[in-house]
Amino acid sequence: MSKVISAHSVSVDGYITGRDPRPGHGLGDGTMLFDWYTDGDTPSQVFDGFRLSEPSALVFDSLAARVGAAVAGRNTYEDSERFGDDGSPHPSAPLFVLSHRPAPRMGGLQTLVTAGIEDAVAAAREAAGGKDVALMGGGVLKCALEAGLVDELILHQVPVLLGGGRPFFRSLPGHVHLRLVEAVPAPGVIHLRYEIEETS
Ligand SMILES: NC(=O)c1ccc[n+]([C@@H]2O[C@H](COP(=O)([O-])OP(=O)(O)OC[C@H]3O[C@@H](n4cnc5c(N)ncnc54)[C@H](OP(=O)(O)O)[C@@H]3O)[C@@H](O)[C@H]2O)c1
Repeated sequence: MSKVISAHSVSVDGYITGRDPRPGHGLGDGTMLFDWYTDGDTPSQVFDGFRLSEPSALVFDSLAARVGAAVAGRNTYEDSERFGDDGSPHPSAPLFVLSHRPAPRMGGLQTLVTAGIEDAVAAAREAAGGKDVALMGGGVLKCALEAGLVDELILHQVPVLLGGGRPFFRSLPGHVHLRLVEAVPAPGVIHLRYEIEETS
């Protein structure tokens, strides 16, 4: 059964970017959230150019292999230079961009969804061909949690207090109970995988 998962690199104080992320300025100032992608000596089998530590490569590639489609929020899309107007953050998975606004240059692997998170996840599931759907962006994750759509939350937790940036954790109307199913320490990061147990 296809799952909806969310995997983000996050600081210990809960930020998924440095300060001032924006188009042309990527993830903002001074973030080291993605250093673990490239500071090892084990090449990723899925992402060209990524060289991770051995434990991180195992976690990263097994997650990447699960993903059949992605849903990204408009901020993630814009701050990532619209993934080249036709690409995706994943080498082969189609990308569904959730927004309230038109996005004129979109093509290739990209589809705009303006009808809300349920429609975006449904479209992504359809495109994923039985594989999992990955959510990208704190705003999108909040909507998906509120709608009860998320099965797994993966935090690649980096040992830094960034002190500012885009928050991963947003205000929610209730509690989300998690069960830790995996914790993999690696150089510069610990990979924490939680299943969503219930919301109350
Ligand atoms: N550290 C990591 O692993 C990681 C991973 C992914 C992204 N990032 C970064 O984190 C930042 C993410 O920014 P973010 O959390 O502020 O935003 P986000 O989730 O990427 O995007 C939020 C935007 O998506 C649209 N949206 C969200 N829910 C919607 C809904 N239900 N219906 C219609 N539109 C909806 C809205 O855009 P509009 O109202 O403008 O249409 C909203 O302002 C980016 O800079 C990105 O590069 C980091």
